[in-house]
Amino acid sequence: MKVLLAGATGALGKQLVPRLGADGHEVVGITRTESKLALLDELGATGVVADVLDPDQVARVVAQAEPEVIIHQLTALNRPFDIRHFDRTFEETNRLRTEATDHLLAAGRATCVKRFIAQSYAGWPFARTGDLVKSEDDPLDPAPPDGMRRTFDAIRYLEDAVTGAGWTEGIVLRYGGFYGPGTSLSREGGAQTEQIRERKFPVVGNGAGVWSFVHIEDAAEATVAAVTRGRPGIYNIVDDDPAPVAEWLPAAASAIGAPPPRHVPRWLGRLVAGEVGAVMMTEVRGASNEKAKRELGWQPRHRSWREGFAEAAA
Ligand SMILES: NC(=O)c1ccc[n+]([C@@H]2O[C@H](COP(=O)([O-])OP(=O)(O)OC[C@H]3O[C@@H](n4cnc5c(N)ncnc54)[C@H](OP(=O)(O)O)[C@@H]3O)[C@@H](O)[C@H]2O)c1
Repeated sequence: MKVLLAGATGALGKQLVPRLGADGHEVVGITRTESKLALLDELGATGVVADVLDPDQVARVVAQAEPEVIIHQLTALNRPFDIRHFDRTFEETNRLRTEATDHLLAAGRATCVKRFIAQSYAGWPFARTGDLVKSEDDPLDPAPPDGMRRTFDAIRYLEDAVTGAGWTEGIVLRYGGFYGPGTSLSREGGAQTEQIRERKFPVVGNGAGVWSFVHIEDAAEATVAAVTRGRPGIYNIVDDDPAPVAEWLPAAASAIGAPPPRHVPRWLGRLVAGEVGAVMMTEVRGASNEKAKRELGWQPRHRSWREGFAEAAA
């Protein structure tokens, strides 16, 4: 397949390009920065320069590439993560999930792409009631906290636009929290790793918020599988082991040789990290990967973050 990858130079893109190549696909990768063309070449993609927030530039590169498949892995999260101002932190990412999705879909439609795959998230968007582990059929949060409403709306917009595009096979991949090389939970300079090391990432309240993780290499493998397998709709791309914060955070600290995390009451967590931070630590839900395993024929090599964190830290 000829694949156009938007977000080819990001944490996931860098893992994805060589794997797509190894699976026999021809990859055209988008970057805004001329100087990253050499990296794309090294990874095995033909690089093209475009700002995806500009519809004319998107139309031009898509028309030139004539891809059979478009993959949207665009975020703008390579910056300090301010949980107190969640929507502000995600402001540009939200534009990539709304405006850039529209531009890529319009350009893809004009060139008749067969499949359109886009990145979403498995975790905080889920309804915070009922089962602790959600499938793709479970509802999203009907009332997200105020501080994350714009980010929630953008995720929902992307999912609806992609799965509603009846002229192509629209597939949404809801990835769990990434860890491993190039992510914020990586050995070398990962921002979250540093916070855990410095004991600035406490367990808030009962720490009952359930998180699902996925090793970045497994996320890339699942994405390669979604190029040719599966059907239009949503897939959770997570490991086998959703776990509460009170369990995974101490294990993450131990994996990097850091002292155990502090415990703070919910009211204090809320004061420091805002309502979004408190919700993340006490109320969010994890995800099941049953559908992805069944329909994409994918198995995460890192079945649990328990071994995965230790391996990533080694
Ligand atoms: N599920 C998850 O846990 C999850 C999901 C996403 C990201 N993250 C985390 O967020 C952090 C940053 O992610 P990242 O390393 O992938 O970097 P990033 O800064 O979020 O960039 C991702 C990709 O988007 C592209 N991009 C952004 N704006 C663009 C625009 N206007 N036009 C064209 N391309 C654009 C970038 O290309 P250029 O810069 O080359 O132009 C890059 O390829 C990492 O720690 C990662 O693990 C986590």
